[in-house]
Amino acid sequence: MSKELIRLADCTMAFDDEVVLDKINLYINDKEFLTLLGPSGCGKTTTLRIIGGFQTPTSGDVYFDGVRINAVPPHKRAINTVFQKYALFPHLNVYENIAFGLRIPKIDEKGKKIKLSEQEIDQRVMEMLQVVNLKGFEKRRVTSLSGGQQQRVAIARALVNRPKVLLLDEPLGALDLKLRKDMQNELKRIQQAMGITFIYVTHDQEEALAMSDTVVVMDSGRIQQIGTPEDIYNEPKNAFVADFIGESNIIDGIMREDGVVEIFNRRFQCLDKGFAKDEPVDVVIRPEDVDIVPEDQGQLKGTVTNVTFKGMQYDIIVDFYGFKWLIQTTDLSPVGSHIGIKIDPDGFHVMKKSEYSGMFGDYSSYSEEYEEISDVDYEPEEEGKEGGNEE
Ligand SMILES: Nc1ncnc2c1ncn2[C@@H]1O[C@H](COP(=O)(O)OP(=O)(O)OP(=O)(O)O)[C@@H](O)[C@H]1O
Ligand SMILES: [Mg+2]
Repeated sequence: MSKELIRLADCTMAFDDEVVLDKINLYINDKEFLTLLGPSGCGKTTTLRIIGGFQTPTSGDVYFDGVRINAVPPHKRAINTVFQKYALFPHLNVYENIAFGLRIPKIDEKGKKIKLSEQEIDQRVMEMLQVVNLKGFEKRRVTSLSGGQQQRVAIARALVNRPKVLLLDEPLGALDLKLRKDMQNELKRIQQAMGITFIYVTHDQEEALAMSDTVVVMDSGRIQQIGTPEDIYNEPKNAFVADFIGESNIIDGIMREDGVVEIFNRRFQCLDKGFAKDEPVDVVIRPEDVDIVPEDQGQLKGTVTNVTFKGMQYDIIVDFYGFKWLIQTTDLSPVGSHIGIKIDPDGFHVMKKSEYSGMFGDYSSYSEEYEEISDVDYEPEEEGKEGGNEE
């Protein structure tokens, strides 16, 4: 990726002594698609507002192209924003909604008014209609458009000013799942076609993984991890990230030596190294990295307590010595069956203990409501045993 465009250095934001962003350090490269991802209230919008200039950090610095811009107002930054409530002008058609910003005279550095000609406005609006795939819609009232089409008008309206950076705050939040997926591809395409830096906010991890060059995972006003989608998924830094990104079984373990981790008093080969001898650790095992084998061939043995059909696979909850794991499998193992599992060395991911240790990664609650039913379900097995006596 190319050169650095924006940098937040030790940015803290406090409201009435309540710290909502705690010394954020982050840089964003030119033409990068960077996503701020985290649960509600973690500080995503606040971070975006600081970058856009709608909020000044309580302490710390914001740089654009190497220049400190803390005091530069939003309209003087080469940054545009698509807010979640993007509020198109209902009385204007698609064309005029997109042209709106272009008709406002700009003041150049010498204080001179610059007005675009109608011809230039037309050329720019038509170009944007092409980019967002809305050619032929220019005369349509925005109120007659679908949610996804309105969203694309909002994006065209923000891009028509040719900002270097586009900030998008949960722009797809109001759309249904199918449309969301279409728009994710569309946004990625637009970003690449126009070569613009996108800073995107979402609390949807799938969306973040699908679209981004870089994902910034936040919690409680702090950055937990910055990395590519693959880094964040495969090498989560702590139990919070492992839990927030995808499904994770997170188990208490001990790193016996490089390449050897112990869980449930058994030693397993893994690829992780660099921990102290006998260091207590958190071990992540993804549900798709567990192979089900006959009970007597398993490295661990457990009992299936819950099965959910998910289309592509079954999500099964398996009780290992009182600890419940989520396993994803294409083979059905019915409730009550005793299974063995195998995990390859690269199926383990070992993490340092953190403030999040013990808070995530146990699927007991997942099947709690099922417990009563599964007790009932154990009975047929006993019947089955009796059945085994027949003939
Ligand atoms: N102007 C404000 N005054 C006081 N508190 C604020 C203000 N703006 C934000 N906060 C607080 O800062 C915290 C972070 O808010 P922010 O809007 O950045 O969260 P978010 O990650 O965008 O959440 P969501 O996903 O719900 O939009 C919240 O606890 C919020 O209540
Ligand atoms: Mg927000």
